[in-house]
Amino acid sequence: MNQNNYVVIGGSKGIGLGLTERLLAGGGNVTVVSRSAPQIPSHPNLQHLAADVTKDTIDAADLPDTIDGLAYCPGSINLGPLRGLKAEAMTSDYQLNVVGAVKCLQASLAAMKAAGNSAMVTFSTVAVRQGLPMHSSVAAAKGAVEGLTRSLAAELAPKIRVNCVAPSLTDTPLAERLLASDQKRAAMAERHPLKRIGTVDDIAAISEFLLTDASGWITGQIIGVDGGMSSVRA
Ligand SMILES: NC(=O)c1ccc[n+]([C@@H]2O[C@H](COP(=O)([O-])OP(=O)(O)OC[C@H]3O[C@@H](n4cnc5c(N)ncnc54)[C@H](OP(=O)(O)O)[C@@H]3O)[C@@H](O)[C@H]2O)c1
Repeated sequence: MNQNNYVVIGGSKGIGLGLTERLLAGGGNVTVVSRSAPQIPSHPNLQHLAADVTKDTIDAADLPDTIDGLAYCPGSINLGPLRGLKAEAMTSDYQLNVVGAVKCLQASLAAMKAAGNSAMVTFSTVAVRQGLPMHSSVAAAKGAVEGLTRSLAAELAPKIRVNCVAPSLTDTPLAERLLASDQKRAAMAERHPLKRIGTVDDIAAISEFLLTDASGWITGQIIGVDGGMSSVRA
């Protein structure tokens, strides 16, 4: 059991909630930052800080004095054809996926440095390595997340490791619309070499690994957790 302090931005739902539950089960203290509180039973090691990362300033004073791991989970899946692409929508994807991550890291940085060794995990998408129609806006924003990850990994080494998880379609509230019927689920599963869509635990497990000392010699990596989608033709 570890006594580490973790901050999970977007830990109230989906992958971030799965990660929060895993970190709590491992004995960590977890501060979740999100607009709504996690819908799980209260836990002595769980704190919730209500904030909208696109509007609010995260105050370092509201975060733990030392932070051993930071996950930035908010993201978008706004899909659509080129002809309908609006600058405002692209800008808001960039704000949520990229600028929000930078703001949260800036607020956490002193506490991450104070921890001695710390780690950050960001989230991209399979749609950066594998070109997919209708994904221009999210692929562009997540491509920026991947560049940001490598740049930060270089800048913050050796004390802070920064890695990125790039999932394919995963069963979370964000993906609800794409998985709204059994037919859609079956069609989406079929597109993956491993013939299923991702579960929260598929992604939360590797995210937890990347935040802990078990991954102590890994930084600057973009790790596809995507049922083989980005690299295998079955
Ligand atoms: N699910 C997929 O199929 C999939 C595929 C590829 C990549 N990803 C990426 O994986 C990451 C996690 O995705 P997910 O599916 O777990 O997403 P999700 O189900 O939408 O959960 C996102 C979390 O972020 C929080 N959040 C969203 N906007 C926020 C804001 N403005 N301020 C503060 N918190 C905010 C949400 O909480 P509140 O609503 O309470 O604020 C929630 O806790 C994202 O970056 C996503 O792009 C997901």
